[in-house]
Amino acid sequence: MKKINKINYKKTLSKFPTGVTVIAINSANKPIGKTVNSFTSLSLSPPLILFSLSKKSSSINSFKKTTYLSINVLSKKQKDISINFAKTKSQWKNIKFINSQLNTPIIKNCISNLECQIFKLIPAGDHIIFICRVINILNNHKLTPLIYYNSSYL
Ligand SMILES: Cc1cc2nc3c(=O)[nH]c(=O)nc-3n(C[C@H](O)[C@H](O)[C@H](O)COP(=O)(O)O)c2cc1C
Repeated sequence: MKKINKINYKKTLSKFPTGVTVIAINSANKPIGKTVNSFTSLSLSPPLILFSLSKKSSSINSFKKTTYLSINVLSKKQKDISINFAKTKSQWKNIKFINSQLNTPIIKNCISNLECQIFKLIPAGDHIIFICRVINILNNHKLTPLIYYNSSYL
């Protein structure tokens, strides 16, 4: 075993393949989206999921204040959407989406869309863990997922 440092720690974590999601909210009637791969399932009963956001994110205060959010699981054809929402100056003008009854942005043509209510926030290190209760879901499971591995899209 090697003692960890910043470089080998980041490299090791990058070798864990994940799906890619965009977490989205409406804040002051404007949509905000963030590319997030820390999404995972947590509990079946009640139905809980979690993801973490950097405390340094430009949008952290808006996410901390929200009641509802959407989780949009991206398909392989949505790599551009992932790249867009990983930027601080991301754009919604080319994104096809609708606003749900709970007023969350639902991106079209995703593998799944999960509409969630914030359940609990837990600060942990330099991130905040968002635990959310899943309320509504929409599935299109015939699509192939976008995968992130070794800092690249597969
Ligand atoms: C594939 C991928 C996954 C990411 N996952 C997360 C994540 O789980 N949590 C997080 O805080 N940022 C994550 N990011 C970084 C954010 O998308 C974004 O780049 C970062 O928050 C900087 O923008 P901001 O300061 O405007 O929020 C990820 C980026 C990429 C490309």
